[in-house]
Amino acid sequence: MLRFLAPLVAILAQVTYSLAAPSHGLAYRGAARPGAAHIGKRCTATISSPADITSANLKCSTINIQSFTMTAGKTLSLTGLANGATVNLLGNVTFGVKNWAGPLFDIGTSSSSGTFTFNGNGKTLDGQGAQYWDGKGTNGGVTKPHPMVRISKGGGAFKCVTILNSPAHAISVGNSAPMTVSNVTIDDSAGTSLGGNTDCFDTSGSDLTITGNTCKNQDDCLAVGSGSNIQFSSNFCTGGHGVSIGSISSGKTVNDVTISNNTVTNSMYGLRIKTVYGATDASVTNIVYSGNKASGITHQGVAIEQDYKRWSQWYTF
Ligand SMILES: *[C@@H]1O[C@H](CO)[C@@H](O)[C@H](O)[C@H]1NC(C)=O
Ligand SMILES: *[C@@H]1O[C@H](CO)[C@@H](O)[C@H](O)[C@H]1NC(C)=O
Ligand SMILES: *[C@@H]1O[C@H](CO)[C@@H](O)[C@H](O)[C@H]1NC(C)=O
Repeated sequence: MLRFLAPLVAILAQVTYSLAAPSHGLAYRGAARPGAAHIGKRCTATISSPADITSANLKCSTINIQSFTMTAGKTLSLTGLANGATVNLLGNVTFGVKNWAGPLFDIGTSSSSGTFTFNGNGKTLDGQGAQYWDGKGTNGGVTKPHPMVRISKGGGAFKCVTILNSPAHAISVGNSAPMTVSNVTIDDSAGTSLGGNTDCFDTSGSDLTITGNTCKNQDDCLAVGSGSNIQFSSNFCTGGHGVSIGSISSGKTVNDVTISNNTVTNSMYGLRIKTVYGATDASVTNIVYSGNKASGITHQGVAIEQDYKRWSQWYTF
């Protein structure tokens, strides 16, 4: 295989790609029935210690988070938010260190069709990854809580925050309503020698825009696991494995993804589609690339792999 070509490329391409045709129709996924909207109480809650993470506070229409250290081994869980809630991060939050599954931070609305705004105001969520990194990522070594941040339900906006030193995967986006993630910096640059599986954005939602973010890591900048109507634009990715569709295993579909105006530097790949060897009842359709730039690529600038995981030496890439 041509594994070490294309050290420097600039890309303008359009790709449409399908696996073996799915034997079942592509059922629209995530079409949640709007339930009774949970109306936020007109109150402002302040969270400045783990004890303030109460269900009463989480029902408020505005939630302000001050600087504090989150209890090791517990999720800072902002789930069940009222429709229309705003969460402001007003100080840095550091997560205590413990070898457990995670996630460290979870946010979502009570109803699938609800929306929220998370505004990080330029503050930092610090996962203290250096205390976990052992060069083995999630394939071995100590248990690393991941993802560090999970968007688990609803939609809206998640913006203006720095995710520092994630133990492994940084942000998992499982939105169930239209969502925009913007102006987020994921900085795992301190993990250059020992960080692993530090994906910046792992997505499973549809109707999703990820724009104007910075990702410094050691794995995929974007990994789209499933979903449709996804825009990934004007992001900067460095140090990792590039912008990926996949890996796609059996039963997963990805369609209508636009990847534009991104810059990828000093990474293993630039733009990649990876479908798992032997996957069935799965498809990748209508992936459009335009205006992307890649430089300092050690493997391939553009790679379409239909045999992902066939060769053991590629398992962790
Ligand atoms: C918040 O964290 C960032 C990044 O570590 C740091 O530069 C900044 O000084 C911290 N702010 C405060 C008030 O500690
Ligand atoms: C990004 O967030 C920073 C910190 O809050 C802010 O100063 C800056 O204006 C934001 N940029 C955009 C394009 O929203
Ligand atoms: C990409 O950049 C081009 C040229 O500057 C611009 O016309 C287009 O709107 C951009 N696309 C996105 C999705 O930002």
